[in-house]
Amino acid sequence: MYLRAPVKAVHSKKDTHGVGSLTQGPSVPNPPKFRPGLIINQNWTLTIMYYHDTTTPKEVVEQAYDHIAEWYLGWVEGPGQRSSPRERYANKVLENAAPASSSSSSPMRVLELGCGPGVPITRMLLDRGAQVVANDISTRQLGMARARCPQATLVAGDMAALSFEPASFDGVVSFFTIFHLPRAEQKGMLAKIHSWLRPGGMFVFNLATVDEEEIHGEFLGHGMFWSSYGVEDSKAMVRDVGLEVVEAEVLEAGEGQLEESDPDYGVKFMWVAARKGV
Ligand SMILES: C[S@@+](CC[C@H](N)C(=O)[O-])C[C@H]1O[C@@H](n2cnc3c(N)ncnc32)[C@H](O)[C@@H]1O
Repeated sequence: MYLRAPVKAVHSKKDTHGVGSLTQGPSVPNPPKFRPGLIINQNWTLTIMYYHDTTTPKEVVEQAYDHIAEWYLGWVEGPGQRSSPRERYANKVLENAAPASSSSSSPMRVLELGCGPGVPITRMLLDRGAQVVANDISTRQLGMARARCPQATLVAGDMAALSFEPASFDGVVSFFTIFHLPRAEQKGMLAKIHSWLRPGGMFVFNLATVDEEEIHGEFLGHGMFWSSYGVEDSKAMVRDVGLEVVEAEVLEAGEGQLEESDPDYGVKFMWVAARKGV
Protein backbone atom coordinates (compact mmCIF):
# COMPACT_ATOMS: atom_id res chain seq x y z
CA MET A 1 0.00 0.00 0.00
CA TYR A 2 0.96 3.59 -0.61
CA LEU A 3 4.26 2.75 -2.24
CA ARG A 4 4.95 4.36 -5.57
CA ALA A 5 7.81 3.92 -7.97
CA PRO A 6 10.39 6.65 -7.48
CA VAL A 7 10.35 9.41 -10.08
CA LYS A 8 13.60 11.20 -9.40
CA ALA A 9 16.00 11.46 -6.51
CA VAL A 10 16.71 14.68 -4.63
CA HIS A 11 19.69 14.58 -2.28
CA SER A 12 19.65 16.24 1.10
CA LYS A 13 20.99 15.52 4.57
CA LYS A 14 18.88 16.09 7.62
CA ASP A 15 18.63 14.68 11.11
CA THR A 16 14.94 13.83 11.07
CA HIS A 17 14.84 13.22 14.81
CA GLY A 18 16.14 16.71 15.55
CA VAL A 19 18.90 15.49 17.82
CA GLY A 20 21.87 17.21 16.17
CA SER A 21 23.66 17.66 12.91
CA LEU A 22 25.74 15.28 10.87
CA THR A 23 28.89 17.14 11.79
CA GLN A 24 29.28 16.03 15.41
CA GLY A 25 32.59 17.30 16.78
CA PRO A 26 35.24 15.07 18.34
CA SER A 27 34.19 16.10 21.87
CA VAL A 28 30.97 14.04 21.63
CA PRO A 29 31.80 10.76 23.44
CA ASN A 30 29.16 8.53 21.77
CA PRO A 31 28.19 10.23 18.55
CA PRO A 32 24.80 9.09 17.24
CA LYS A 33 24.91 6.77 14.23
CA PHE A 34 23.18 7.79 11.04
CA ARG A 35 21.91 5.64 8.23
CA PRO A 36 20.70 6.74 4.82
CA GLY A 37 17.13 6.24 3.69
CA LEU A 38 14.76 7.47 1.00
CA ILE A 39 11.83 9.76 1.72
CA ILE A 40 8.93 9.85 -0.75
CA ASN A 41 7.90 13.47 -1.16
CA GLN A 42 4.37 14.62 -1.86
CA ASN A 43 5.23 15.20 -5.52
CA TRP A 44 6.70 11.67 -5.63
CA THR A 45 10.29 12.76 -5.92
CA LEU A 46 12.72 11.05 -3.55
CA THR A 47 14.92 12.64 -0.93
CA ILE A 48 17.90 10.83 0.55
CA MET A 49 17.78 11.40 4.31
CA TYR A 50 20.17 10.44 7.09
CA TYR A 51 18.39 8.99 10.10
CA HIS A 52 19.50 8.98 13.70
CA ASP A 53 19.73 5.25 14.10
CA THR A 54 17.75 4.45 17.25
CA THR A 55 14.74 2.74 15.75
CA THR A 56 14.84 -0.37 13.59
CA PRO A 57 12.73 -0.54 10.43
CA LYS A 58 10.45 -3.11 12.09
CA GLU A 59 9.89 -0.85 15.09
CA VAL A 60 9.06 1.98 12.69
CA VAL A 61 6.47 -0.21 10.93
CA GLU A 62 5.01 -1.57 14.18
CA GLN A 63 4.62 1.91 15.69
CA ALA A 64 3.13 3.29 12.49
CA TYR A 65 0.42 0.60 12.30
CA ASP A 66 -0.32 0.95 16.01
CA HIS A 67 -0.99 4.64 15.36
CA ILE A 68 -2.87 4.39 12.07
CA ALA A 69 -4.96 1.29 12.89
CA GLU A 70 -8.29 3.18 12.95
CA TRP A 71 -7.50 4.93 9.69
CA TYR A 72 -6.42 1.63 8.11
CA LEU A 73 -9.68 -0.07 9.02
CA GLY A 74 -11.62 2.75 7.38
CA TRP A 75 -9.40 2.51 4.33
CA VAL A 76 -9.72 -1.27 3.81
CA GLU A 77 -13.47 -0.97 4.20
CA GLY A 78 -13.63 2.00 1.82
CA PRO A 79 -14.49 2.05 -1.90
CA GLY A 80 -10.86 2.06 -3.11
CA GLN A 81 -10.23 -1.44 -1.73
CA ARG A 82 -13.30 -3.11 -3.20
CA SER A 83 -11.46 -4.03 -6.36
CA SER A 84 -8.33 -5.29 -4.58
CA PRO A 85 -7.31 -8.77 -5.84
CA ARG A 86 -6.91 -9.97 -2.20
CA GLU A 87 -10.07 -12.06 -2.17
CA ARG A 88 -9.40 -13.53 -5.61
CA TYR A 89 -5.94 -14.67 -4.47
CA ALA A 90 -7.13 -15.93 -1.05
CA ASN A 91 -9.71 -17.96 -2.95
CA LYS A 92 -6.91 -19.75 -4.82
CA VAL A 93 -5.64 -21.08 -1.48
CA LEU A 94 -9.10 -22.30 -0.50
CA GLU A 95 -9.66 -23.98 -3.85
CA ASN A 96 -6.21 -25.54 -3.80
CA ALA A 97 -6.72 -26.86 -0.25
CA ALA A 98 -10.21 -28.19 -0.89
CA PRO A 99 -9.40 -31.66 -2.36
CA ALA A 100 -7.17 -32.60 0.57
CA SER A 101 -9.60 -31.38 3.20
CA SER A 102 -12.70 -32.89 1.60
CA SER A 103 -11.13 -36.35 1.70
CA SER A 104 -10.05 -36.01 5.33
CA SER A 105 -13.08 -33.95 6.49
CA SER A 106 -10.72 -31.88 8.63
CA PRO A 107 -10.76 -28.10 8.10
CA MET A 108 -8.11 -26.49 5.92
CA ARG A 109 -5.33 -24.93 7.93
CA VAL A 110 -4.37 -21.46 6.72
CA LEU A 111 -1.72 -19.09 8.04
CA GLU A 112 -2.12 -15.36 7.44
CA LEU A 113 0.95 -13.17 7.88
CA GLY A 114 0.26 -9.47 8.49
CA CYS A 115 -3.48 -9.90 9.00
CA GLY A 116 -4.10 -6.22 9.82
CA PRO A 117 -7.58 -5.64 11.29
CA GLY A 118 -8.82 -9.11 10.29
CA VAL A 119 -10.91 -7.84 7.39
CA PRO A 120 -11.41 -8.67 4.71
CA ILE A 121 -9.21 -11.75 4.53
CA THR A 122 -9.09 -13.39 7.99
CA ARG A 123 -12.88 -13.07 8.18
CA MET A 124 -13.29 -14.47 4.67
CA LEU A 125 -11.09 -17.50 5.41
CA LEU A 126 -13.01 -18.26 8.60
CA ASP A 127 -16.36 -17.84 6.87
CA ARG A 128 -15.23 -20.35 4.26
CA GLY A 129 -14.52 -22.92 6.97
CA ALA A 130 -10.74 -22.60 7.32
CA GLN A 131 -8.91 -22.97 10.59
CA VAL A 132 -6.88 -19.77 10.66
CA VAL A 133 -3.69 -18.76 12.42
CA ALA A 134 -3.27 -15.01 11.90
CA ASN A 135 -0.22 -12.97 12.82
CA ASP A 136 0.58 -9.28 13.01
CA ILE A 137 3.40 -7.21 14.47
CA SER A 138 1.05 -4.37 15.53
CA THR A 139 -0.78 -4.87 18.81
CA ARG A 140 -3.53 -2.47 17.73
CA GLN A 141 -4.07 -4.23 14.42
CA LEU A 142 -4.17 -7.61 16.14
CA GLY A 143 -6.68 -6.28 18.68
CA MET A 144 -8.94 -5.24 15.82
CA ALA A 145 -8.53 -8.66 14.24
CA ARG A 146 -9.41 -10.30 17.58
CA ALA A 147 -12.63 -8.27 17.77
CA ARG A 148 -13.64 -9.28 14.25
CA CYS A 149 -12.29 -12.82 14.14
CA PRO A 150 -12.45 -14.38 17.63
CA GLN A 151 -12.39 -17.87 16.08
CA ALA A 152 -8.88 -17.33 14.66
CA THR A 153 -5.72 -18.17 16.57
CA LEU A 154 -3.97 -14.81 16.76
CA VAL A 155 -0.22 -14.64 17.12
CA ALA A 156 1.50 -11.34 17.90
CA GLY A 157 4.96 -10.41 16.69
CA ASP A 158 7.35 -10.25 13.78
CA MET A 159 6.50 -12.86 11.17
CA ALA A 160 10.20 -13.55 10.71
CA ALA A 161 10.39 -14.74 14.32
CA LEU A 162 7.55 -17.26 14.02
CA SER A 163 8.18 -20.95 14.01
CA PHE A 164 5.88 -23.83 13.12
CA GLU A 165 6.36 -27.53 12.50
CA PRO A 166 7.08 -28.43 8.86
CA ALA A 167 3.92 -28.98 6.76
CA SER A 168 1.66 -27.30 9.34
CA PHE A 169 -0.51 -25.47 6.78
CA ASP A 170 -2.49 -26.19 3.63
CA GLY A 171 -2.10 -22.56 2.62
CA VAL A 172 -0.40 -19.30 3.55
CA VAL A 173 -1.59 -15.80 2.64
CA SER A 174 0.19 -12.48 3.10
CA PHE A 175 -1.08 -9.30 1.50
CA PHE A 176 0.58 -5.88 1.54
CA THR A 177 3.03 -7.01 4.23
CA ILE A 178 6.19 -8.76 3.00
CA PHE A 179 7.41 -5.45 1.54
CA HIS A 180 7.68 -4.17 5.12
CA LEU A 181 10.47 -6.70 5.80
CA PRO A 182 13.99 -5.59 4.94
CA ARG A 183 14.58 -7.30 1.62
CA ALA A 184 17.63 -9.15 2.99
CA GLU A 185 15.07 -11.07 5.11
CA GLN A 186 12.48 -11.71 2.43
CA LYS A 187 14.03 -14.82 0.91
CA GLY A 188 14.54 -16.39 4.36
CA MET A 189 10.88 -15.63 5.12
CA LEU A 190 9.76 -17.32 1.92
CA ALA A 191 11.94 -20.33 2.73
CA LYS A 192 10.20 -20.65 6.12
CA ILE A 193 6.80 -20.40 4.47
CA HIS A 194 7.85 -23.15 2.05
CA SER A 195 8.73 -25.41 4.98
CA TRP A 196 5.44 -24.63 6.82
CA LEU A 197 3.35 -25.63 3.79
CA ARG A 198 2.30 -29.23 3.26
CA PRO A 199 3.39 -30.67 -0.08
CA GLY A 200 1.05 -29.23 -2.70
CA GLY A 201 0.10 -26.33 -0.40
CA MET A 202 -0.26 -22.84 -1.82
CA PHE A 203 1.14 -19.45 -0.83
CA VAL A 204 -0.54 -16.31 -2.17
CA PHE A 205 0.85 -12.84 -1.59
CA ASN A 206 1.78 -9.56 -3.15
CA LEU A 207 5.00 -7.61 -3.32
CA ALA A 208 6.01 -4.14 -4.41
CA THR A 209 7.60 -3.81 -7.84
CA VAL A 210 10.29 -1.17 -7.28
CA ASP A 211 13.92 -2.18 -6.86
CA GLU A 212 14.77 -0.31 -3.65
CA GLU A 213 16.57 -1.73 -0.62
CA GLU A 214 15.27 0.89 1.82
CA ILE A 215 12.40 3.29 1.42
CA HIS A 216 11.60 5.46 4.39
CA GLY A 217 8.36 7.33 3.97
CA GLU A 218 6.03 9.30 6.14
CA PHE A 219 2.40 8.38 6.38
CA LEU A 220 -0.24 10.27 8.36
CA GLY A 221 2.60 11.81 10.34
CA HIS A 222 4.32 8.52 11.13
CA GLY A 223 7.47 7.02 9.70
CA MET A 224 7.02 3.97 7.47
CA PHE A 225 9.47 1.51 5.93
CA TRP A 226 9.32 -0.58 2.76
CA SER A 227 11.83 -2.73 0.89
CA SER A 228 11.52 -4.49 -2.42
CA TYR A 229 13.19 -6.19 -5.35
CA GLY A 230 12.18 -5.60 -8.93
CA VAL A 231 9.68 -8.00 -10.51
CA GLU A 232 12.08 -10.50 -12.09
CA ASP A 233 14.33 -10.69 -9.01
CA SER A 234 11.27 -11.27 -6.83
CA LYS A 235 10.09 -14.12 -9.04
CA ALA A 236 13.60 -15.62 -8.90
CA MET A 237 13.51 -15.37 -5.11
CA VAL A 238 10.22 -17.31 -5.01
CA ARG A 239 11.64 -20.04 -7.25
CA ASP A 240 14.93 -20.16 -5.36
CA VAL A 241 13.19 -21.28 -2.17
CA GLY A 242 11.58 -24.17 -4.05
CA LEU A 243 8.12 -22.75 -4.74
CA GLU A 244 6.58 -23.10 -8.20
CA VAL A 245 5.14 -19.82 -9.50
CA VAL A 246 1.64 -20.81 -10.62
CA GLU A 247 0.59 -17.27 -11.43
CA ALA A 248 2.26 -13.87 -11.21
CA GLU A 249 0.83 -10.62 -12.49
CA VAL A 250 1.63 -6.96 -12.05
CA LEU A 251 -1.53 -4.96 -11.48
CA GLU A 252 -2.17 -1.31 -10.88
CA ALA A 253 -3.96 -0.78 -7.58
CA GLY A 254 -7.72 -0.35 -7.86
CA GLU A 255 -7.54 -1.42 -11.53
CA GLY A 256 -6.29 2.10 -12.25
CA GLN A 257 -9.61 3.59 -11.14
CA LEU A 258 -8.53 5.07 -7.79
CA GLU A 259 -9.00 8.70 -6.86
CA GLU A 260 -5.78 10.69 -6.96
CA SER A 261 -6.12 11.20 -3.21
CA ASP A 262 -6.00 7.43 -2.56
CA PRO A 263 -2.64 6.38 -1.10
CA ASP A 264 -2.39 3.60 -3.70
CA TYR A 265 -3.14 5.84 -6.69
CA GLY A 266 -0.83 4.81 -9.54
CA VAL A 267 0.92 2.08 -7.53
CA LYS A 268 1.69 -1.31 -9.07
CA PHE A 269 1.94 -4.53 -7.10
CA MET A 270 2.99 -8.01 -8.17
CA TRP A 271 0.43 -10.65 -7.15
CA VAL A 272 1.72 -14.20 -6.86
CA ALA A 273 0.24 -17.65 -6.36
CA ALA A 274 3.00 -20.17 -5.65
CA ARG A 275 2.79 -23.87 -4.84
CA LYS A 276 5.04 -26.26 -2.96
CA GLY A 277 5.85 -29.35 -4.96
CA VAL A 278 4.36 -32.70 -3.94
C1 LIG B 1 -0.71 -2.80 4.77
S1 LIG B 1 -1.18 -3.72 6.15
C2 LIG B 1 -1.98 -5.12 5.38
C3 LIG B 1 -3.01 -5.72 6.25
C4 LIG B 1 -3.84 -6.81 5.55
N1 LIG B 1 -3.01 -7.93 5.14
C5 LIG B 1 -4.54 -6.26 4.34
O1 LIG B 1 -4.35 -6.80 3.25
O2 LIG B 1 -5.27 -5.29 4.49
C6 LIG B 1 0.36 -4.44 6.65
C7 LIG B 1 0.22 -5.21 7.96
O3 LIG B 1 1.40 -5.97 8.16
C8 LIG B 1 1.81 -5.87 9.50
N2 LIG B 1 3.25 -6.12 9.53
C9 LIG B 1 4.23 -5.33 9.02
N3 LIG B 1 5.43 -5.90 9.24
C10 LIG B 1 5.19 -7.08 9.87
C11 LIG B 1 6.02 -8.12 10.36
N4 LIG B 1 7.36 -8.06 10.25
N5 LIG B 1 5.44 -9.18 10.94
C12 LIG B 1 4.09 -9.27 11.08
N6 LIG B 1 3.25 -8.29 10.65
C13 LIG B 1 3.79 -7.22 10.04
C14 LIG B 1 1.40 -4.45 9.89
O4 LIG B 1 1.28 -4.28 11.28
C15 LIG B 1 0.07 -4.30 9.17
O5 LIG B 1 -1.02 -4.71 9.95
